[in-house]
Amino acid sequence: MNDTIHILGIETSCDETSAAIVSGKGEILSNLVLSQLEEHRAFGGVVPEIAARAHLDHLDTLIKGALDDSGLNFKEITAVAATSGPGLIGGVMIGMVAGKAIAAAHDIPFLGINHLEGHALTPRLTDPEITFPYLLLLISGGHTQILVVEGPGQYKRWGTTLDDAAGECFDKSAKIMGLPYPGGPEVQKIALECLDPKAAKVRFPLPKPLKGREGCDFSFSGLKTAMRNHVEHLPEGDLKREDIRDLAYTFQSTMAEVLKDRCNNAIERFKDTYKMKEPTLVVSGGVAANSAIRAALEGLCVKKDMRFYAPPLSLCQDNAAMIAWAGVERYRLGLVDSLDFKARPRWPLDPSAPPRHGAGVKA
Ligand code: KG4
Ligand code: ZN
Repeated sequence: MNDTIHILGIETSCDETSAAIVSGKGEILSNLVLSQLEEHRAFGGVVPEIAARAHLDHLDTLIKGALDDSGLNFKEITAVAATSGPGLIGGVMIGMVAGKAIAAAHDIPFLGINHLEGHALTPRLTDPEITFPYLLLLISGGHTQILVVEGPGQYKRWGTTLDDAAGECFDKSAKIMGLPYPGGPEVQKIALECLDPKAAKVRFPLPKPLKGREGCDFSFSGLKTAMRNHVEHLPEGDLKREDIRDLAYTFQSTMAEVLKDRCNNAIERFKDTYKMKEPTLVVSGGVAANSAIRAALEGLCVKKDMRFYAPPLSLCQDNAAMIAWAGVERYRLGLVDSLDFKARPRWPLDPSAPPRHGAGVKA
């Protein structure tokens, strides 16, 4: 049955418009991603109205392109999976309504996908050996969470951010250093230019929020404030290139250290709770593209005798293949939705976990 499944995925929850087709066997037959970066760059962040209009302008062409690239036609599509939250509601509505219209016109099932579930299940798209349950560090522009993934629709949230998300902190700190949006990739690039990492840390010490404390929660707003203080109190006044590369290096390594510390606690708890032979830690979401963070987590897993998995870089950023794959997983379980499924701007993966402040609109 798996061989014949072909799911059309649609992603429009933030500033990437994307359409993809994924088979039941996990083959990505097409995955077109159109970034709106240029439209938003001048504003230093995503402008919801501009994002929604851009999705509207390009989605039809991308869906047609995804079909053409896959060599399939609508008759060969088994079901449509569209991000239906969380995210910027205007964009979410555009992708969701397009998905419903295709499903209605071709009389095929519709699946309303939680964008976070797309990130959470991505590892199983590229590595079929990853079985449930696994421990997940989800780090994106709007969310920073530690979850146990027990299956599609079955999540336990063990930690979340008390204020900013990790990606948000990368973006805001980059802005403080005068770097363009999105800040994460810029910080990573400039940190590589740091000539003396030890000296950089001494010049620009940063707090490590919640490090060494119990539990799996995160806090990043103090880190961002410390970055602002450094930039506002430079002894020579102006922010020079060498200051930026030192600051970027210190910031990135502090981020990696804090994430590692919180994952360390989660790994202990996971091992105690699940007692698996080969426990796995997975990292996903846009910030999972960061090589310093990946390396820190990989090192931790070697130490803790955990398997570590990070998806390929192209599947860390928002994309429709991950939405189509979440669709495959849900379709197999019969978890299809009706056409009156409502978009959800806020949609926690673990509804039983208490809500926290600070999760932004991006997912
Ligand atoms: O998952 P994603 O594409 O969109 C959301 O759903 O939020 O994540 C976007 C976030 C942005 O904050 C961006 O700065 C960050 O991921 N990001 C990175 C890197 N690449 C993207 N952060 C650190 N290092 C990177 N290489
Ligand atoms: Zn995302």
